[in-house]
Amino acid sequence: MKLALVSAIALPALVSAHGVRDLHHARQQAAAASSPAAASSSAAPATSVAGASSVAGASSAAAATTAPGPSGAVSLTFTLQSTNPSAIPLSQIVSGASSQPTVAATTTFASGTTPTYIPNAPALPNALSLNPANYPTLDKTPDVSSPQVQEWIKAVNASGITIPDISPTVAGGCPANPQAAADSSRCWWTCGGCTDDDDVVQCPDKMTWGLTYDDGPALYTGDLLAYLDSADLKATFFVVGSRAISYPALLQQEYMAQHQIAVHTWSHPQMTTLTNEEIIAELGWSKKIIKDVLGVTPTFWRPPYGDVDNRVRAIAKAMGLQTSIWTRISPTATFDTGDFDIAGGLITSAQVLNNWENIIGNATTIDHGFIVLEHDLFQQTVDIATGYILPDALAHQPPFKIEPIISCLGKPMQDAYIETNDNTSNPIGTGSGSAASASASGGNSGSAASAGKNGAMSAFSAPGSLGAMAFALVSGAGALLL
Ligand SMILES: *[C@@H]1O[C@H](CO)[C@@H](O)[C@H](O)[C@H]1NC(C)=O
Ligand SMILES: *[C@@H]1O[C@H](CO)[C@@H](O)[C@H](O)[C@H]1NC(C)=O
Ligand SMILES: *[C@@H]1O[C@H](CO)[C@@H](O)[C@H](O)[C@H]1NC(C)=O
Ligand SMILES: [Zn+2]
Repeated sequence: MKLALVSAIALPALVSAHGVRDLHHARQQAAAASSPAAASSSAAPATSVAGASSVAGASSAAAATTAPGPSGAVSLTFTLQSTNPSAIPLSQIVSGASSQPTVAATTTFASGTTPTYIPNAPALPNALSLNPANYPTLDKTPDVSSPQVQEWIKAVNASGITIPDISPTVAGGCPANPQAAADSSRCWWTCGGCTDDDDVVQCPDKMTWGLTYDDGPALYTGDLLAYLDSADLKATFFVVGSRAISYPALLQQEYMAQHQIAVHTWSHPQMTTLTNEEIIAELGWSKKIIKDVLGVTPTFWRPPYGDVDNRVRAIAKAMGLQTSIWTRISPTATFDTGDFDIAGGLITSAQVLNNWENIIGNATTIDHGFIVLEHDLFQQTVDIATGYILPDALAHQPPFKIEPIISCLGKPMQDAYIETNDNTSNPIGTGSGSAASASASGGNSGSAASAGKNGAMSAFSAPGSLGAMAFALVSGAGALLL
């Protein structure tokens, strides 16, 4: 059954007290109240909302979206094939939503438990005995002078992979770095979407979705895991090191439930702005905390904000990490749901579902599979995934094949970790590849970048830590992006 939903932004009272069933009713009123022109003009600012770059920018962009149309009502229409009967009503998936109870880690695994689904996997360490004092400060780029980072710097140096001699970018993204943005030899994804041949940005097979969640583990990851389990779905989790040391039991639960665990840096910076040593510190500590919690070290990573160029790619490769972003189908459209920005009030959950409808519509027309940007960091992102996006995707006809990235690439799960990878089907970081020489022309979708907005993606903000972001979000002050 098709369930049509509308968020009538100008009718919050109507929507807020009711569940999904009554949204159908709301739709008729909103449809009556707003012309198609009003509806489509309301969709456009969704992109600019996602591109807002500061608290000030955010509020003006938000103002743009809520500016009344000719009829005084602003609405977005989208159609979902199915929703979760216990979905949190959309009207409650908002910035400042009151906290729901969390599903804590369901199991604490005894150290020595061994995952049986990965051949030759080592036993789980006693993660709960890890001492945070032995790790870098949360949400800050780790000190590069520590003995650990110095070791990793030597290992990168000895890897045989040449790190291109290009300077870091400055904060502010494409507009602040016009030369770097225009330099196609840098292959800077942020400005123009350039990818290296080695980058994973899609799944090869049509109608196949490489399901991913970023920035956790976090308070509501347990809710997402419970849903994924009930739907028999497996995903790839791009884990922030600072969250892993905070929630080791949840990370173990993800791994033992057969999800792919991958690296998403220690402190979630824009990686192209860092020095080589800082990049090594971000990746090295993330690999280390994950190994200390799980006993295995990921072979895949995702750059925060997709912010990667040939220098960052080469360093990641030298550290055994496969760069993986998400699907981008045009200069203005990436498969970013925008879900991260609900908590900060930069986008509504209706706009996220509208983005999702565009993504799923485009996904069915392209001749390959796809990867979408979503997050398990916030209650709102988990609520919209489990209540709406996943049920809709599962009900889609023809069906999507939904699986972790490693699986959609046709590789066994043991290839996802250094300790279990036999390096045959997944020879990452062995120095045999060529990210280093990743030549200038290596980009297969690069275009000399216009120094402007890049769809929902070019969101750049003043530097700040994820911790600071989370804090700002909780306090309702607005936030950085992604
Ligand atoms: C990296 O290797 C070069 C020579 O190949 C050497 O001169 C340099 O000192 C090394 N740097 C580090 C940090 O090991
Ligand atoms: C693809 O996405 C664009 C916006 O990114 C949207 O305008 C278009 O309708 C989508 N196509 C389909 C078939 O949904
Ligand atoms: C695979 O390559 C990694 C990195 O070079 C190495 O540490 C590991 O021992 C290799 N594994 C096997 C089974 O050869
Ligand atoms: Zn992220």
